Amino acid sequence: MTGFGRGKVILLGEHAVVHGCPAIAVGIERGVTAEATIAEQDMLRLSPWDLTLAPNPDGDEPLERAFATVLAHYPSRPRLDVSTRVDLPAGAGLGCSAAIGVAVLDAIDEALGIERSRLELAALALSWEKVFHGNPSGIDNTMSAVGGVALYRKNEALQPLRSNKPLHLVVGYSGEPSSTKEMVASVGRQLESDRQRVTKAFEGIEVLVRNAKLAIEAGDHVALGQLLDLNHTILNALMLCTTKLDDMCQAARRAGALGAKMTGAGGGGCMFALAPKRDEALRLRDVLGEGAFVAEVSA
Ligand code: MEV
Repeated sequence: MTGFGRGKVILLGEHAVVHGCPAIAVGIERGVTAEATIAEQDMLRLSPWDLTLAPNPDGDEPLERAFATVLAHYPSRPRLDVSTRVDLPAGAGLGCSAAIGVAVLDAIDEALGIERSRLELAALALSWEKVFHGNPSGIDNTMSAVGGVALYRKNEALQPLRSNKPLHLVVGYSGEPSSTKEMVASVGRQLESDRQRVTKAFEGIEVLVRNAKLAIEAGDHVALGQLLDLNHTILNALMLCTTKLDDMCQAARRAGALGAKMTGAGGGGCMFALAPKRDEALRLRDVLGEGAFVAEVSA
């Protein structure tokens, strides 16, 4: 009985999506698997960090509170022991926390014989995400559960994008941990203190997202790459990028990427590059150094 939650890469639109703008993201093959078994005590195990914890709605650890929130979705149930294997860096902008939440819920559903759609699973996982990120847009848990390439906007139906040309992405990790909660709060503060500037930035991002949707559907990856670069510049202006992430993006562009951009909350974490072809993606992976990996995504 295995549950699965994917990692995700936001192609364009992070942060603006928290404030109601659309964003485009992909679900990747790497993620989190989980198994739930009926047991004597409720327990959550996270293998890479050797963590074992019981649910506690008032606990100090967000994971204790998140696990309690998830279990509350199953009012009459046996006790459950849930083991997870996490194959994503945490605090890196790849949606690790959401993927754990989706995998845990999926595993519990399987153990209890509950059937629901991946979109329903995504909606339940939002309660898990809220424990970690305060005010999540919902894009991470949605893409983690559903996968593919999609345009997401809060409170609207997910719009899957179609194209017959796969996206060759290369994800690079800066090695700098980042906190989504803090970065989202930082943009919120900028919005309060300089509403006009930040609103203009969000409007600019929305135009890029709309054009990127057309570029993906038309298979025009040269145009898509340019839009990624422009989105990166706007995120940089919102002080979300680090020198390391910026250097990695520039190195990828010099090495032949069609575009490169930080992804996720920023302030560290990951960037990604769009490669023209599979073999060039492998070459870019070497340029981006330790921890870099190729993610081929079909829309
Ligand atoms: C985090 O992966 C993406 C952000 O836009 C936050 C969110 O959408 O909840 C920064």
